[in-house]
Amino acid sequence: MSPRLNLLAPEVRGNPYPHYAELRRTTPVCQVDPGGFWAVTRYDDVTTVLKNPQLFSSEGMRRATCPPWLEDAPFAYAMIVQDPPSHGRLRALVNRAFSAPVLNRLEPWVRRRAETLVARLPTGQTVDFIESFSRPLAASVISELLGLDTSLLPRLPRWADDLTSTSSVGPGDTQRMDEIRATVREARGYVSEVLAHRRRAPGDDMVSELLAARVDGEALTDAELVSFLLMLLIAGMETTIHLLNHAARLLMEHPEVLTRVRAEPSLMPRLVEEVLRYEPPVHGIMRVSTQETELSGVRLPAGAWVLVLLGSANRDEGRFPEADRFDIDRQGTHNLPFGHGVHFCLGAPVARLEARLGLEVLLARFGRIAPRGPVTWNHSLSVRGPRVLPVELFSR
Ligand code: HEM
Repeated sequence: MSPRLNLLAPEVRGNPYPHYAELRRTTPVCQVDPGGFWAVTRYDDVTTVLKNPQLFSSEGMRRATCPPWLEDAPFAYAMIVQDPPSHGRLRALVNRAFSAPVLNRLEPWVRRRAETLVARLPTGQTVDFIESFSRPLAASVISELLGLDTSLLPRLPRWADDLTSTSSVGPGDTQRMDEIRATVREARGYVSEVLAHRRRAPGDDMVSELLAARVDGEALTDAELVSFLLMLLIAGMETTIHLLNHAARLLMEHPEVLTRVRAEPSLMPRLVEEVLRYEPPVHGIMRVSTQETELSGVRLPAGAWVLVLLGSANRDEGRFPEADRFDIDRQGTHNLPFGHGVHFCLGAPVARLEARLGLEVLLARFGRIAPRGPVTWNHSLSVRGPRVLPVELFSR
């Protein structure tokens, strides 16, 4: 029997796709490290799991984000860790905050912010694309969407790093646990203050909208509001940063695509969709089986931890012809970067809008992007992206 694949081993992390392909071919549902999760790798199995929350519960997301050592886990009441029917109640309450008018209001603001950042980018020297473009853009868009104070921006990277690493802290690493607990206290304190302020003085922003939301006369509780806002701040930001980073990497590898999209900006939505398929920012989402069940002929016991590998489903050759080819001319395929079923990403239109506008503005000024150093990868089973991305930008 071959040893279990370790998804966080450096050689796998750098390029997991040949490993996913091997699993899809030989053992489409099997246990992997770290954690012994049952990895689900084929497109059809991935959609089966995500369409059946009664069999595959989001309690799996709770276990990953709410470890026992973190008494006041930040996402404990977020909709992402809940199943129907309580999930449906939360989703109905926050739906309006993501409506088309909200997005329309956001669009000119995102464009202006991208223009300011692009104007500051230097030519003729190496810059970290994350530090100088993708992070400030994603952080300020999420702050604008929520109506938060810009003084928060410098703190967001640390919050994101700490709140997304709860599942990878070793059992004896008490120092890291203390650091994360302190960050959770700080972030909770900040969000609670914002809520108190908006209660006193409601504005034209998402937090005020969420405070006013009612379904059958019922509002969100304070615990639900805090969890939801923390989840949006962190999950909405990290994922979008990596969408922009992957786009930059792919444009460096495929300069002919950059030239084409630059000449024909109407191709931008197709570029964004193919980046989302080819390099999805979210590789894995967690579920737990509620009863014994079978998937691709493999028997899963009740209580099995399941890792749904979106990163693999998006390269499944059974669904995407020549799946390992980056091709912005693909038509009619159904990529899965935002999940599927009841938990389908609420922020998908925000992420797509931000990527489209950010890249449009970037390519209006720069005709070539070149790599200037090796990429190191972050350490998470869910979000996959580079830690630093050294590049040089050329106006033509
Ligand atoms: C490229 C960027 C993004 C990616 C790849 C992404 C991916 C995902 C995925 C895969 C899920 C499903 C999780 C599951 O089924 O357990 C999800 C859920 C969610 N996402 Fe995103 N996301 C992105 C950006 C955003 C943004 C910008 C926001 C908010 C502004 C956001 C808000 C949410 C929310 C609220 C949920 C939970 C939905 C539910 O549980 O019903 N996301 N996202």
